[in-house]
Amino acid sequence: MADKKRYEELINILDQYSYDYYVIDNPTVEDAEYDQKMQELLKIEEAHPEWVTPESPSKRVGGEVLEGFTKVAHDTPMLSLANAFNRDDLADFDRRIRDKVGDDIAYMCELKIDGLAVSLQYENGKYKQGATRGDGTVGEDITANLRTIRSIPMKLQKDFSIEVRGEAFMPKRSFQKLNEIREEEGQMLFANPRNAAAGSLRQLDTKIAASRNLDIFLYAVADFGEMGVTTHSEGLDMLETLGLKVNKERRLCNNLEEVYAYIDEWTEKRAELAYDIDGIVLKLNDLEQQRQMGTTVKSPRWSIAYKFPAEEVPTKL
Ligand code: IVH
Repeated sequence: MADKKRYEELINILDQYSYDYYVIDNPTVEDAEYDQKMQELLKIEEAHPEWVTPESPSKRVGGEVLEGFTKVAHDTPMLSLANAFNRDDLADFDRRIRDKVGDDIAYMCELKIDGLAVSLQYENGKYKQGATRGDGTVGEDITANLRTIRSIPMKLQKDFSIEVRGEAFMPKRSFQKLNEIREEEGQMLFANPRNAAAGSLRQLDTKIAASRNLDIFLYAVADFGEMGVTTHSEGLDMLETLGLKVNKERRLCNNLEEVYAYIDEWTEKRAELAYDIDGIVLKLNDLEQQRQMGTTVKSPRWSIAYKFPAEEVPTKL
């Protein structure tokens, strides 16, 4: 008998399976078990279409065909980052910060994921809207395509109304497989995973986006202050607690020497990662110090992107 309780239970079970597999990379169930639960859910949904909400795990597979993408204005602009290309640039950045806020500082170092910036709106803990960065002020509504990214939770662990930001990307392996298939089919190949990810999220047929195995890392909140945290690192931990996917390779560094060591380590190890990175992002950790530094029209003065030198060896298909 299909009852509402069982339906809600199934949603929770399926959401948990997805979280284990896609967010924390710790699969807890066999495919057959997952499929069986999904079939049970679909059957109930067929009998009770009035129970189905956009957050249902059944909505992950796409199916909607859009006519176009509507524009979305970002209440808090999506800024970009100033670039550093060498240690001198980083030392200048560090100097500007110390001159303004003093020497009691720390930097959160993060991998610079080579994908595309997106923003996710949650209302009372539920996924409501997803958008591209666009020109930073106005982006495009890609809610339906982002819903197909399994690592994006449809419900947060708390009923927060927040706007989180991060990078959607295509893992290297998915990119290689996609291009292999496209080559067999005589279709145009994507130049790199970033273009493939961007092309996938701009599909009007959401089933295509769903088939592309995209992923995401969240790295910011439009306004971290709203979450009652005082540092960026606490903010990222909070995002994890909410069930969002945050990159594990972040590291708090107390000075430039530690930053350089982090950069050297990842310059060396980047090829081992399952996804492309094009640099390292430094963020002044204390939110009050960030506020003191302020932003220019284009980018925050409390953060900088160190860009790796362009890769010499092209990725083998
Ligand atoms: S923070 C206000 N952190 O790099 C700061 N950006 O060149 C907003 N990116 O537009 C960005 N990984 O698309 C930040 N760990 C990371 C990132 C990251 C990749 C991208 C993002 C941004 C661009 C800036």
